[in-house]
Amino acid sequence: MADADIGLIGLGTMGAMLALNLAEKGHKVAVFNRTQSVTEEFISNAGDLAKTLVACDSYGSLATAIRKPRAVVLMVPAGKPVDAVSEDLAGYFEAGDMIVDAGNANFRDTNRRAADAGDIKFMGIGVSGGAEGARHGPSIMAGGSKAAWERMKPILTDIAARYEGQPCATYMGPEGAGHFVKAVHNGIEYADMQIIAEAYGLMRDGLGLTASEIGDIFTEWNNGELASYLVEISGKVSKAVDPETGAAMLDIIEDTAGQKGTGRWTAIEAQHLAAPVTVIEAAVAARNMSAAKDLRGKGEILFGPGPEALTLKTELIEGALIAGKIICYTQGFEMLRRASAEFDWDLPMPAIAEVWRAGCIIRSDMLNDMALSLSDEPDRLLMYAPHFSELLKTHVPALRWVVGAAIGAGHPMPALSAALGYFDTMRTERGTANMIQGQRDFFGEHGFERTDRDGSDYHGPWTADR
Ligand SMILES: NC(=O)c1ccc[n+]([C@@H]2O[C@H](COP(=O)([O-])OP(=O)(O)OC[C@H]3O[C@@H](n4cnc5c(N)ncnc54)[C@H](OP(=O)(O)O)[C@@H]3O)[C@@H](O)[C@H]2O)c1
Repeated sequence: MADADIGLIGLGTMGAMLALNLAEKGHKVAVFNRTQSVTEEFISNAGDLAKTLVACDSYGSLATAIRKPRAVVLMVPAGKPVDAVSEDLAGYFEAGDMIVDAGNANFRDTNRRAADAGDIKFMGIGVSGGAEGARHGPSIMAGGSKAAWERMKPILTDIAARYEGQPCATYMGPEGAGHFVKAVHNGIEYADMQIIAEAYGLMRDGLGLTASEIGDIFTEWNNGELASYLVEISGKVSKAVDPETGAAMLDIIEDTAGQKGTGRWTAIEAQHLAAPVTVIEAAVAARNMSAAKDLRGKGEILFGPGPEALTLKTELIEGALIAGKIICYTQGFEMLRRASAEFDWDLPMPAIAEVWRAGCIIRSDMLNDMALSLSDEPDRLLMYAPHFSELLKTHVPALRWVVGAAIGAGHPMPALSAALGYFDTMRTERGTANMIQGQRDFFGEHGFERTDRDGSDYHGPWTADR
């Protein structure tokens, strides 16, 4: 009987939790998983919510179970699986039915799928918050046609996280706009995690603090300007003890980090947009360097160990993190602004900050102030807004001091130093690209503008020197 409100394909980490969330909010969900035993196990563990779930063993039975016009959420890995599932499903779907890809797709794939969808609609939504968010309220960044959003809005806002009662589910724009905003969210997430890791490294190798002591410091910072999910969990991770050995968990976790692509996509797309996201790029590169453990070991044998002990007040490290975080988000929002203009998307800048205030991994109190600043002037560089420029005036001296001291003592600070480099560049009107322009004209006759005259395409007197 076709009485399910919605379908969901892919009962992995995210899909299973999202299905339970939908069911808990009273939406009857028809579920299908490629491996049938996973569906059976899911239903048998669903408790009372099983009454609101319909287990399906094929795409055909899934299509039959959902009320028309149908909507099915895909929670399968990005890339080929999304195309394969969409193709199989299309055989059972009809005009007006809709596929909603809720995985971490590359927005260019979503653009293509939306364009190719024909009578069957295709919508791409970014979902953040991990398993916990998917279960109890994620942050949802929706893309696609306005009509598709209006259709899905009641269900998506129902299952989303709430910030002071306001649902964290918003329409971002057409085609792949939702997945694009999700990718930038993940890029910022990489950067936020990396600057926290650099602060951790300084406290561990520079100040000689134990993991548990560092945990206390993160916990304390979580009561101040840095209050955020990532700082909160950094405190918990630092204080956790391995039940098997009794050692600090953090001390026995291998120092190599993986990535699934969204941070890398953000860095790549930033290059296409000429958007300087140096903190995100540094964070992506830092993950790649973390994976090169063998090479790092060889470097240590060749050059000797890097980080030396240093004396630094932890308040200064906190200040460095505050400044680094503002600069990193400034870059992320500026990238979104450029994408909005380039793709003619009209991205809702304040609403993006609002949708990130709860449910997602980068949720933080500071995002509320960012939403307010972007509401005042969406096109202004975030760090020039009065609230954030005041914070930077207060905390950049700490960032400068910490980066200087850390570099002097051999501590790697790729992301925090990138943040400082961006800040210093963006508050220096007379830069150094005149040298670049002189060099380009010298070797390639590229021409330059002059400071003392109008027009372009001036050349230097160096022809004879070449
Ligand atoms: N994990 C997170 O924190 C998180 C957060 C936000 C977004 N996401 C995104 O959400 C999506 C799902 O992630 P996940 O962590 O839930 O993945 P997961 O735990 O690995 O689950 C993947 C699911 O997709 C199914 N699947 C895989 N290949 C398939 C194919 N070719 N055809 C049909 N079904 C297929 C799997 O079915 P089987 O049981 O048969 O293998 C499984 O149900 C990804 O795009 C991911 O990037 C994840």
